[in-house]
Amino acid sequence: MSRYKINNLEEYFKEYKKSVREPKKFWDKIASENFTWYQQWDKVVDFNLAEAEVKWFTEAKVNITKNCIDRHLAKKGDKTAIIFEPNDPAEEAQHISYNDLHLRVSKMANVLKEQGVNKGDRVCIYLPMIPELAVATLACARIGAIHSVVFAGFSASAVATRIKDSECKIVITSDGGYRGNKTIDLKEIIDEALTECDCVKTVLVVKRTNNAVTMKEGRDQWLQPLLDVALENNVAEIMDAEDPLFILYTSGSTGKPKGMVHTTAGYMVYTAYTFKNVFNYEENDVYWCTADIGWITGHSYILYGPLLNGATTVIFEGVPSYPDYSRFWEIIEKHHITQFYTAPTAIRALAKESLDYVQKFPLKSLKVIGSVGEPINEEAWHWYNDHVGDKRCPVVDTWWQTETGGIMISPIPFVTPTKPTYATLPLPGIQPVLMDEKRNEIEENQVVGSLCIKFPWPGIARTIWGDHQRYKDTYFSAFPGKYFTGDGALRDEVGYYRITGRVDDVVIVSGHNLGTAPIEDAINEHPAVAESAIVGFPHDVKGNALYGFVILKETGEQRDRNNLIKEINQQISNQIGPIAKLDKIQFVSGLPKTRSGKIMRRILRKIAEGEFDNFGDITTLLNPEIVEEIKQGKI
Ligand code: WT7
Repeated sequence: MSRYKINNLEEYFKEYKKSVREPKKFWDKIASENFTWYQQWDKVVDFNLAEAEVKWFTEAKVNITKNCIDRHLAKKGDKTAIIFEPNDPAEEAQHISYNDLHLRVSKMANVLKEQGVNKGDRVCIYLPMIPELAVATLACARIGAIHSVVFAGFSASAVATRIKDSECKIVITSDGGYRGNKTIDLKEIIDEALTECDCVKTVLVVKRTNNAVTMKEGRDQWLQPLLDVALENNVAEIMDAEDPLFILYTSGSTGKPKGMVHTTAGYMVYTAYTFKNVFNYEENDVYWCTADIGWITGHSYILYGPLLNGATTVIFEGVPSYPDYSRFWEIIEKHHITQFYTAPTAIRALAKESLDYVQKFPLKSLKVIGSVGEPINEEAWHWYNDHVGDKRCPVVDTWWQTETGGIMISPIPFVTPTKPTYATLPLPGIQPVLMDEKRNEIEENQVVGSLCIKFPWPGIARTIWGDHQRYKDTYFSAFPGKYFTGDGALRDEVGYYRITGRVDDVVIVSGHNLGTAPIEDAINEHPAVAESAIVGFPHDVKGNALYGFVILKETGEQRDRNNLIKEINQQISNQIGPIAKLDKIQFVSGLPKTRSGKIMRRILRKIAEGEFDNFGDITTLLNPEIVEEIKQGKI
């Protein structure tokens, strides 16, 4: 993959201008020079943003796994593609070469085919962070099946919703997973989920923990015996540029999770290009992203981006606090990590612990350190820069989304001067704009506005699975002709962007994007609850935590409040997952509502944050008296 030949900010601006003036030429060159195609494209891009239609590299034929794996075999078959670092530091790390990966993916692809999985079928993957997760995901891509990886922390009901939405035919899971000193019974969760899903005919089970599991006759099979007899040779499926590669679910502000669909060629080009340039990747680097493959960060920057560049990428099964808070730093030292990419919530959690944990390790191998998932506050930024990067490694604060497929706004290391809490400048090819309340583009600097993107880029999601109208409504109708990110941003005097957070009803907790609506739905199902509203409030470690305002039914009024709080959180945990549990619950008799019935969340947000005035205009409220009552209850 080619690197920008940019040495300083002036050259960046020159390159950037070129990419805006002639986007087709810009992407055409990147796509031609860095990949193997079965057939070239006729058009670089074909789009109509008003209709939410985007196509890249039309008519081109390609297979992403040929580009991730086969292409590297001649020159670097023995190079390590994946380092697997197990949860337990006493268990030996595995080094999987490109040759090994080729063999494992080919066999897995043949197993899937034998199980009747065809091009276009959906495969749900619910696995811990073990090599099989990477292998299964790539095997789907190899045969043209659409993978839907579901983060293995989601509850049975959340997995079921996702399986049903995309009608997966098969599930790949494991007997269990390790996380710190806990084991998680993944197979049991799948069994429960599948009581609701008729579409799943086959479950393949990886052995990891040797937990006893129930195997349902005719449906469940252990994976290893199938792999043992699988053929070694697999011819990759020839895919159209716009064939779906995967579905990945993300929360919306309302309704069920959105199955974002990413397609083959554009996603490939975009993740490869951004990986190379944002991380300043060079041959022989060892790159580590601490995310889970169940999130977009893991898809794009543990798997596809690094492998497309023939890099060595780390898969870490564990957590930063096990066996103690030096685990991350120990791993960096052990594998000589050159690029480290993590989330502000992890940085804040580690910064709270003694400095000894990090200072024991020189961390001299590091070159670039990255942050992703939510705004990084100034204190965390400095801690990261001082104690991990030693003020020597540029901090790349990378802004992007599940929907964007890859990094959009980020410093380019050694080129863009960093500024704490600023994601800084758009990558070449990306055209952000700030919009004011009247939906006009704001031209000047030193302003805040709604962040939109006004020209398509290859990595943009193409639709929501099964609901193109919702895709159009969510992303292309607030500001017609532009992609609306849902984020607000500030642009400073030199044009640097600082993301200020969501302007919709999504709260980012520990880097996880949580829609308030599904959590409210879960709470409302409790028999004692009449209605509820969730908002986020600032939290030292998690970035944001959840605050719930709950109205009880008359029958609920008699109940013990502490028990109710426990039950409500259990309900949330069952339906969504423990990540969505509320830090605080306040019982109220009403919620501030507008005449159209919309809860005025900004008021609740202020109260949750402990701010009791400056509520702004509350004249449109149907029940302004409730504000005082809620305030009193909180104080
Ligand atoms: C939302 C997207 C991108 C992969 C992980 C999250 C927030 C993400 C940053 C950043 C400020 C950020 C935004 C965005 N966000 N990165 N560097 N600075 N905010 O993907 O779950 O789709 O969430 O995360 O609010 O819209 P996601």
